[in-house]
Amino acid sequence: MERIYTFDTTLRDGEQSPGASMSMEQKHELALQLAHLGVDIIEAGFPVSSPHQFKACSVISESVKGPTIAALARTVDKDIEAAAESIKKADKPRIHTFIASSPIHMEYKLKKDPETVIEMARTGVAKARNLVPEVEFSPEDATRSELPFLCKLVESVIDAGATIINIPDTVGYAVPEEFGQFIKAIMEGVPNMDKAIISVHCHNDLGLAVANTLSAVKNGARQVEITINGIGERAGNAALEEFVMAMFVRKDILPFSTGINTKQIYNTSRLLSNIIGFPIPRNKPIVGDNAFAHESGIHQDGVLKFRETYEIMTPESVGRDASNIVLGRHSGMHGFKKRLGELGLHVEKEEIDSLYQRFLHLSDRKKEVYDEDLFALVSDELGRQYATYSLQYFNILSGNTSVPTGTVIIEKDNKMFEEASTGDGPVDAVFRAIDRITEINTTLKDYIVHAVTPGKQAMGEVTVSLDIEDRIYTGHGSSTDIIEASALAYVNALNRFETFKNNN
Ligand code: KIV
Ligand code: ZN
Repeated sequence: MERIYTFDTTLRDGEQSPGASMSMEQKHELALQLAHLGVDIIEAGFPVSSPHQFKACSVISESVKGPTIAALARTVDKDIEAAAESIKKADKPRIHTFIASSPIHMEYKLKKDPETVIEMARTGVAKARNLVPEVEFSPEDATRSELPFLCKLVESVIDAGATIINIPDTVGYAVPEEFGQFIKAIMEGVPNMDKAIISVHCHNDLGLAVANTLSAVKNGARQVEITINGIGERAGNAALEEFVMAMFVRKDILPFSTGINTKQIYNTSRLLSNIIGFPIPRNKPIVGDNAFAHESGIHQDGVLKFRETYEIMTPESVGRDASNIVLGRHSGMHGFKKRLGELGLHVEKEEIDSLYQRFLHLSDRKKEVYDEDLFALVSDELGRQYATYSLQYFNILSGNTSVPTGTVIIEKDNKMFEEASTGDGPVDAVFRAIDRITEINTTLKDYIVHAVTPGKQAMGEVTVSLDIEDRIYTGHGSSTDIIEASALAYVNALNRFETFKNNN
């Protein structure tokens, strides 16, 4: 079977999803898991855009071994120099440089004529190629570009040293049949195409990103740019899990292989969802709660008689462990650590004790601790570290005949701050009390409560989205107490705002 290279851009394009920004530690944790999942290339960030992005690329280059580490750059000197510097410690560094090639982007955004664009692309690629051994080039908005111009541009960047040509459907405009033909036409229309491989990068504005990616592969693309859970700019990118499982299930007409260990798909998806605080929709293919649930009697009967009647793949094949091992107070440190490892949760030595204490506390409250609880614990822990604010205490007074009142104590810079407030309900009262301490002007855009695991003692997972200074910050918290989970989520979103402020 021919090999397809998986280029994961969750940390770059994925992080461009509104509300999905990640801290340094969260990026590092996710990158380790992406390596474990088996992606070939990790796009770690856009280094010139902020010191935080630069640092993410350097930390990941230094500590995540196995995949190629790519950094994004426009075709201008300062971007290319920053990209090269940020990935210098990677075993296999790659610069991914881009410039727009569609008439609409060249005229209105770049305000450059086509010949200048070719010259900038050529110079940028040549410069990058002098600094790193591997260069990828993307003509942005390729699918709305004129084919003869695109072919000329691609030919000149291959001449200048690019060995991966990525064709982005930047605005998610293409449809599968057309996109496949477009890829074929580029391969046939560029005389030196044998010196490079074709990659595709599809956005999901029409819900066609995975279909377009598959169509491109059938027509000659050998690298695919994808993200976990399909996150990315606007409606997102092609979802890694959907693309990989489509090839896995339909080997008969898609005879290609990847380096992905499909059994790590579910863990990776949960980890990302916990880190960025975006719940996975129940009906999401492969990783949603309902993806393998059979509701109708006829379906249940069929599956019991012969699984394949209604299942085209097994939950185990994507790492959804049917047994979902349950831990409790008596599992001990050894059992706890072992399960974290099996779930692909990479916890640093210094963090394990505090995490174990929280696990004990949780198992006191809820007796049975499920995998989902562990994901929630680890991502909460990652969110707590290096945080500006930390929730120390809260108390509420509420009832159907009293005015809800919340009191909170927040730690900031080793000092304790206490405030109280009334509100429309207990959650609102706690949020208002926190606002009094931080003095940050927030607008609550979204508030979602979700039970992590079944049963009356379930952990509640709360996601809040706050609008602060015209940017959305998503926070995430979990606890067996919904008010506590809400306060943690709120503080988490405020911490993301502080991190963003400090990094930009
Ligand atoms: O969508 C896009 O065009 C991009 C490029 C930078 C590859 O993300
Ligand atoms: Zn993109």
